[in-house]
Amino acid sequence: MESLPSQNRNPLPNASLWPLTTSVDHSGRLIIGGCDVAALAQQYGTPLYLFDEVTIRTACRACRTAFAARHRGTTAVHYAGKALLNVAIAQIIADEGLGLDVVSGGELYVALRAGFPPQRIHMHGNAKTRAELEQALASGIGQIIVDNLDELDMLRRLTANRSSPQPVALRIAPDIAADTHAHIQTGHATSKFGLPLDALDAAAEKLRAASGVRLTGLHAHLGSQLFDIAPYAAAVEVLLDSAARLRDRFGVLIKEINAGGGIGVPYTADQPLPDIDAWAALLGDTLVRGCERRGLPLMRLVIEPGRSIIARAGIALYTIVATKPLPHMRFLHIDGGMGDNIRPALYDARYTAALAERMRDPVEECVAIAGRYCESGDVLIRDLMLPRARVGEILAVPVAGAYTLSMASTYNLAPRPAVVLVNGGEARLIQRRETYEDLIVRDVG
Ligand code: LLP
Repeated sequence: MESLPSQNRNPLPNASLWPLTTSVDHSGRLIIGGCDVAALAQQYGTPLYLFDEVTIRTACRACRTAFAARHRGTTAVHYAGKALLNVAIAQIIADEGLGLDVVSGGELYVALRAGFPPQRIHMHGNAKTRAELEQALASGIGQIIVDNLDELDMLRRLTANRSSPQPVALRIAPDIAADTHAHIQTGHATSKFGLPLDALDAAAEKLRAASGVRLTGLHAHLGSQLFDIAPYAAAVEVLLDSAARLRDRFGVLIKEINAGGGIGVPYTADQPLPDIDAWAALLGDTLVRGCERRGLPLMRLVIEPGRSIIARAGIALYTIVATKPLPHMRFLHIDGGMGDNIRPALYDARYTAALAERMRDPVEECVAIAGRYCESGDVLIRDLMLPRARVGEILAVPVAGAYTLSMASTYNLAPRPAVVLVNGGEARLIQRRETYEDLIVRDVG
């Protein structure tokens, strides 16, 4: 994805980190989706999350187009809702023709309330409860991605009387360790996710006895924030070996290979933009050749990107509420932090930031951005070069769309931020700020 050159009247530092419609006006103010970002922060208060609709839709289209062009068979792109899901986002994703991955009854509920077509929803999860499986089955969900043999037993019981079998896929742990933070690796043999390869036959036996489910696909997800795409080819080979084994030993024909999500996005200027086209070409080629080599019919290719669809579209806005000068640096204390973005504390994730009203002022000092929460680990950015920032100024953090709000908490009972969608000079509140009243709404004692 490239920036839209016509909108960039003034060069924007690190343009690839900001939403596609970002520009800086003549007085150095940050403009996104045609809206003055600092003005929105004043209007809606901070912390505030802003999403650029054009960036979301462009990412959806780029992904669908790349996969449709690069695979000879049919393709489907399922947005991984765990990256961010609310009613408005679900509606945009549905409108763009993507499918949706949900990983809980809660995500499924939001998707259905948003009017997302259930046939285009897949359900994941390594610990789906009986209630969640019942909810999924009742909704008419397109596919349940089975993680383990116990889930298969449960599904068999729940679907025993069905007239039309529920499509399912099997998630395999392909024994491939991708190069990313250990907390977000999922494809290694000892991962808690997915069926170990040596349990494939047992799963096939159980499936044979389950008339209420129909195995249509095999799935693997290697991890998240991956910059090296080579392991995806290895994962497809493992899935195809499994498909060939299921055919040879059990007479089962697999129709669909799902290679998961995980493609990395840049959070700082030194990281590359995702090459969706290269990812699509690698997966498409590997699948076509792999099917041919094993004498398998050409299969449908499914992917499940989350971060690469939503991360760049979102920016977080905070007010600098206080400072703490130390001999060699200053802390800027902001009104948000780990409650709305746990990623630096959890994965040492790195972010950059800018002053939304002084985008072109020269940088003068190195600061650390300290969150408001009562944890020493709540430091959003440890070394940020900024102009000399003052209390009351608005700090904008780009690439804040994925795994921030969806992992948000009310720690310290700080209400969660409001969310605004911008497009064509208009701003629409899509999720209101949590209120103090919301904080006690569940207290019934
Ligand atoms: N499919 C499956 C089965 C997944 O588990 C995930 C992410 C995805 C797709 C989407 O992966 P993506 O394209 O977004 O990388 N909280 C962590 C990331 C956890 C990812 C969990 N699974 C973070 O903030 O980095």
